[in-house]
Amino acid sequence: MYNSIETHARITTIEGHILDQQHYYPEATGVLTNLLYDIALAGKVIASNTIRAGLAEILGRTGDTNVQGEQVMKLDRLADMTMRRMNDHTGRLAVMASEENPEPMPIPKDYPIGKYVMLFDPLDGSSNVDFNIPIGTIFAIYRRITPEESGPGTLADCLQPGRKLVTSGYILYGSSTMLVYATNKGVHGFTLDPSVGEFLLSHPNIQIPERATYMSANMGYERYWSRGVQEYTSYLQGSHNGPKHLSLRYIGSLVADFHRNLLSGGVFYYPADHKDPNKPHGKLRLTYEAAPLAFIAEQAGGYASNGVKNILDIQPDELHQRTPLYIGNRDLVEKAEEFIRRYDS
Ligand code: AHG
Ligand code: MN
Ligand code: MN
Repeated sequence: MYNSIETHARITTIEGHILDQQHYYPEATGVLTNLLYDIALAGKVIASNTIRAGLAEILGRTGDTNVQGEQVMKLDRLADMTMRRMNDHTGRLAVMASEENPEPMPIPKDYPIGKYVMLFDPLDGSSNVDFNIPIGTIFAIYRRITPEESGPGTLADCLQPGRKLVTSGYILYGSSTMLVYATNKGVHGFTLDPSVGEFLLSHPNIQIPERATYMSANMGYERYWSRGVQEYTSYLQGSHNGPKHLSLRYIGSLVADFHRNLLSGGVFYYPADHKDPNKPHGKLRLTYEAAPLAFIAEQAGGYASNGVKNILDIQPDELHQRTPLYIGNRDLVEKAEEFIRRYDS
């Protein structure tokens, strides 16, 4: 069993890493550090529940459906509650919003109100929970834009374009538990060392490899995609003078599919499809799935689009609005936009 002291020349924890970066954010006054630390702590609690989910009677469904009309898994509920309770009293946030709650959750008046806003998908990939397939938590942090003297934050604070993100990241509960976060100074990955209970820097300055390895999409829905997306898919498989080397990997957990493509190069796409008339913009949500991951992708040298424009430039109208998502290597995402322009406009 390796000893984390021997294998890491320099042990860097999350807070140590942010403090190192602190000089980039003089105005952050350590609040950002504390906020990321709180999220990391929530991640450790959620991780400890996912690794023994089968034993602790927290698998399966709650029997409820959420605002998305989707089955709420017990772990969805537990992750949502953990993220909220770790962050609602710390004085760092003015308001929170989650996939699992129809409305934003303003910080109650009897708690100190901070200057940041956090949106999150507490458990991404829930349909995989019962099958021991990696799942994740996604978070997005903005500065509040409503005046501090107006009290708790509001929906307006939550509806900001991804371009305004201060930081975003995800926690991936996989064969190991990783936390990856981005600021405008780069993308960094930390691996949880269970023996010391800390996330230690394992992937500094992540940049998406120039050459893609994977394409990731739910090919089962191909017949519901537009002509442009179908032609794009055959491009990725070598037609239209496309790449001849891509492997298909798609496990139905956005965080896991995104993370694999971030480290190995690749493109993930969840197009608009006409399989479900009340989901004409596909399944993924803009504010707590597409935008935070788009910020990470762009900081890692990649790109994310809704098929027409940069995800980060989309002004959200609603908290749970959906968007098509094409994310990963810039050249492959721009190719998707090209095929959609050529065949669908
Ligand atoms: P969530 O569990 O938060 O609802 O997200 C699930 C998403 C995403 O993780 C994944 O990429 C996608 O659902 C898979 O959808 P399909 O099963 O329709 O491919
Ligand atoms: Mn999700
Ligand atoms: Mn979710």
